[in-house]
Amino acid sequence: MFYDLARKVLFATDPEVAHELSMEGLLMAHRLGATRLLCKARSQPLFCMGLEFPNPVGVAPGLDKNGDYFEALGGLGFGFVEIGTVTPRPQPGNPKPRVFRLTEAQAMINRLGFNNKGVDHLVRQVKKRQFKGVLGINIGKNFDTPNENAVDDYLHCFEKVYPHADYITVNISSPNTKNLRDLQGEEELNKLLGRINAKREELADACGQRVPIALKVAPDLEDDALPAIAQTVDHHGFDAVIATNTTISREAVKGMKHSAEAGGLSGAPLKAKADHVLAALRKLLPKEIAMIGVGGITTGQDAVDKLDLGADLVQFYTGMVYRGPDLLNECLQEIAKRGHQ
Ligand SMILES: Cc1cc2nc3c(=O)[nH]c(=O)nc-3n(C[C@H](O)[C@H](O)[C@H](O)COP(=O)(O)O)c2cc1C
Repeated sequence: MFYDLARKVLFATDPEVAHELSMEGLLMAHRLGATRLLCKARSQPLFCMGLEFPNPVGVAPGLDKNGDYFEALGGLGFGFVEIGTVTPRPQPGNPKPRVFRLTEAQAMINRLGFNNKGVDHLVRQVKKRQFKGVLGINIGKNFDTPNENAVDDYLHCFEKVYPHADYITVNISSPNTKNLRDLQGEEELNKLLGRINAKREELADACGQRVPIALKVAPDLEDDALPAIAQTVDHHGFDAVIATNTTISREAVKGMKHSAEAGGLSGAPLKAKADHVLAALRKLLPKEIAMIGVGGITTGQDAVDKLDLGADLVQFYTGMVYRGPDLLNECLQEIAKRGHQ
């Protein structure tokens, strides 16, 4: 109700400005103790990746790239918040405008290009953490680091965030960093995941704590590329796969305003593709490897669909823009009903 009004104002402004206004507004509301009032639904805690989650619904990365707002987002009642993508050095991202709403389709296209304040800023923020839910940190590479050196960027971020993350996501699936998705190829992936897992073993010994690692994949992967990904993830002891990032396909939004903009499409039209990859990977992965379903959740039923396809947890971003915190409550209610069926 409150968000319906706010949305009218926010949608009259540029999407990036609206994002900043809403995040700052949320932060203010959190500091005044008001976010707790928006969070109505209750849920059973669950265990996944060896961590206890207050509930299975999380914030997808991108909403809080720098760790500036996770306390406030957590205050809304999300079971987990994934922040990032963060890169070793700060970078401004692509020229503006670079975020577009496709309102008739409850969708967005973005080509932000990992704009972020760098890993040192994010670490300073998470050191102040009071949030009691699960905090995931999503890492990437700088736009000007060539793919042959990408592993150095991932290891740099990995080591810096390791002591502060409940889990770490390796993001190789954004369509907005040139050639990034090539890292999903069999040989590149094997090298990258092997090095990251070796670093994890080293840090686990040093810190006395084994932090789970997730791999986030693209929805545009061909079916025949999925077995190698599942096998590589398993071989290197990764704990979870997150399906999926945004799509470069425009099939579902043909002819709509902004549909020709370059970048990744998210929101309702992404759901079928994301669900397809989720279901296919679930069948290929051993059950000890968790799956997080993301892409196109705009109703509570969408979240239930992902759990029915084998996701252990779900996340959303674009649904938050269109529906606000009500979507979280609706997801938790529908999931609770499913649990009682
Ligand atoms: C504006 C915007 C920025 C995003 N930035 C990131 C990011 O930095 N890292 C990442 O892994 N995913 C990022 N994503 C992708 C989301 O986390 C999510 O995977 C995707 O949007 C599909 O979910 P949705 O349909 O609920 O939005 C971004 C999405 C949007 C819309």
